[in-house]
Amino acid sequence: MATILDGKALSEKIRAGLKEKLDRQMSRGLPRPFLTTMQVGGYLPSTVYIRAKQRACEEIGIGFRHYKLPEETSMDQLREAVSEVNQDSSVHGLLVQSPLPPHLDEIAVQRMVKPEKDVDCFHPENVGLLYIGQPRFQPCTAAGIIELLLAYGYDPAGKHAVIVGRSVIVGRPLAVMMMLKQRGGNATVTVCHSLTRDLPSITRRADVLVPAIGAAEMIRGDWVKEGAIVVDVGINRVPDASKKRGYRLVGDVAFGEVEARAEAIAPVPGGVGPMTVAILATNVMRSAGFDVG
Ligand SMILES: NC(=O)c1ccc[n+]([C@@H]2O[C@H](COP(=O)([O-])OP(=O)(O)OC[C@H]3O[C@@H](n4cnc5c(N)ncnc54)[C@H](OP(=O)(O)O)[C@@H]3O)[C@@H](O)[C@H]2O)c1
Repeated sequence: MATILDGKALSEKIRAGLKEKLDRQMSRGLPRPFLTTMQVGGYLPSTVYIRAKQRACEEIGIGFRHYKLPEETSMDQLREAVSEVNQDSSVHGLLVQSPLPPHLDEIAVQRMVKPEKDVDCFHPENVGLLYIGQPRFQPCTAAGIIELLLAYGYDPAGKHAVIVGRSVIVGRPLAVMMMLKQRGGNATVTVCHSLTRDLPSITRRADVLVPAIGAAEMIRGDWVKEGAIVVDVGINRVPDASKKRGYRLVGDVAFGEVEARAEAIAPVPGGVGPMTVAILATNVMRSAGFDVG
């Protein structure tokens, strides 16, 4: 049986540690950290993710405000809303939830957020700082994956890490972090994508395999080396009439098959997702001047 990389339990521990740090440092005069989120339109998974972020903030004691803007919001209107929050000195983190409706230019929006408040680490300045190994903020999902591995004693150093997916949110920052000469890095990194030929022949060579694709149960048991460490990032909804909501969440790996071969595996749900939220909260506190270690 593979070890389960329990991101839910680890994130609870991180959040409890943050709450303790927040209480202690606020009593010494630091301002309450504050996160503002923005969502354009009503894409349901985004609403669910924002709720999880809100719950975590409230539990820790981080201030939280969410702006839900109408689907037809223009670039100019969004710029104005972002600019207002950029100028509000009581807000330490601003996150514009992706995906945005297709009429909005996602990269341009990422550039609007003041780099000092860009707790998602999407602004080119912050991406550049990450790239040179001097990050202002940790990219939330990538850092969550690395912290989960380290917490269970699986240091990527010297290992062959195969990341499937090259998105700006997950695959790319994770590849950089795992490659850098730093804690949680020093891996030999292979990045795969939709044009990669014979993907199973590459995933089978992974000591650490990180699928971040968005394709339900695509990675089968025989795509994985015996004894590999697997961190499943994908979150996919598959219809399930036995559930009240009509669907269940699965990852990018066929869990049963892969668990039988892996040494350790992060499940979906309960693996990377909660870790992402814990790192976000850490970033908001850092942005507000807190010592978060
Ligand atoms: N747990 C969390 O906190 C968290 C956070 C973010 C995302 N996610 C989940 O992670 C998954 C990926 O998210 P994302 O935002 O990175 O998605 P994305 O932007 O759609 O990127 C998906 C990546 O997978 C690659 N890909 C697609 N089909 C493939 C195939 N058949 N073979 C190999 N590679 C393939 C794509 O290649 P191309 O570049 O060639 O198109 C792309 O690089 C989603 O399920 C998402 O919900 C989870």
